[in-house]
Amino acid sequence: MIAKTAPKFTRNALNTFRAPADITRVTGALRSVSRQIALVPTMGALHAGHRELLRRAKRLPNTVVAASIFVNPLQFGAGEDFEAYPRPLERDLAVLDEVGAELAFTPEAADLYPEGATVTVHPGPLGDELEGAVRPGHFAGVLTVVAKLFNIVRPDYAFFGEKDYQQLVLIKKMVRDLNFGTHVIGVPTVREFDGLALSSRNVYLSEREREDAVVLSAALTAGAHAGRRGAEEVLAAAKQVLAAKPAVEVDYLDLRGTDLGPAPVDGEARLLIAARVGSTRLIDNVAVLLGTAADGTQREEWDAGE
Ligand code: PAF
Repeated sequence: MIAKTAPKFTRNALNTFRAPADITRVTGALRSVSRQIALVPTMGALHAGHRELLRRAKRLPNTVVAASIFVNPLQFGAGEDFEAYPRPLERDLAVLDEVGAELAFTPEAADLYPEGATVTVHPGPLGDELEGAVRPGHFAGVLTVVAKLFNIVRPDYAFFGEKDYQQLVLIKKMVRDLNFGTHVIGVPTVREFDGLALSSRNVYLSEREREDAVVLSAALTAGAHAGRRGAEEVLAAAKQVLAAKPAVEVDYLDLRGTDLGPAPVDGEARLLIAARVGSTRLIDNVAVLLGTAADGTQREEWDAGE
């Protein structure tokens, strides 16, 4: 039998691998010389939000930054934008190179699902709520691919954006429940100048829809500012802002605890929204301090204004 030659790794350069076995061998070799691995899983079409995840990963000492680019068919439902999803691979690789990532994992569906995907990760009841209620099977698809990426790359750290907050909560839960050794780090949402959360799907918006889309973050901000007055007022304030844009069809606007269980009366919560702007479905969320927990923040704001 002829031994397969080891995949090559060049330090301080971007090394791209398509075969899962190749990147597993390279990250194994790096770990054996005491380097840590930080993974940024993506579906490509990289924007400033992804750059922020990569920059955070780069700050870790003695760590090689890896990014995966894979448009995961398993997390798209029938009639969703799997075919249309942007795939600017050359540009994405240039971004990874520019930010100093050293590993790019760019598998095809046949590399990750050679026999389809009959065994998947079940997200539990939270997988059927919020996004899961509108996109059945979505989180099983996300958790399955993330579990596979973790098993292939074996990262010490993995970075995900808070923009997909429910995804982040479920990935953290999977890591705990299934004893993955990876530290999952959530990174705050990067926004446009007017508050619109960055998303690979923003490219679908017409000029008019782009103007309307800002209502999502405006509603969340109004809701968060009402936190001191309690949950009902948070939702009322957000709904009042949304009413100004009747063309924006809201799928859900919900206030939850930070673990996406019921919101507390006092303390940290999360306000989440999903809405259709034209044919584009956008999601966003913000942190909210409810009740007396908001008092300190309000005082700080007033002090700062003096
Ligand atoms: O957030 C995404 O881009 C995707 O859901 C992820 C985590 C890369 C899995 O395909």
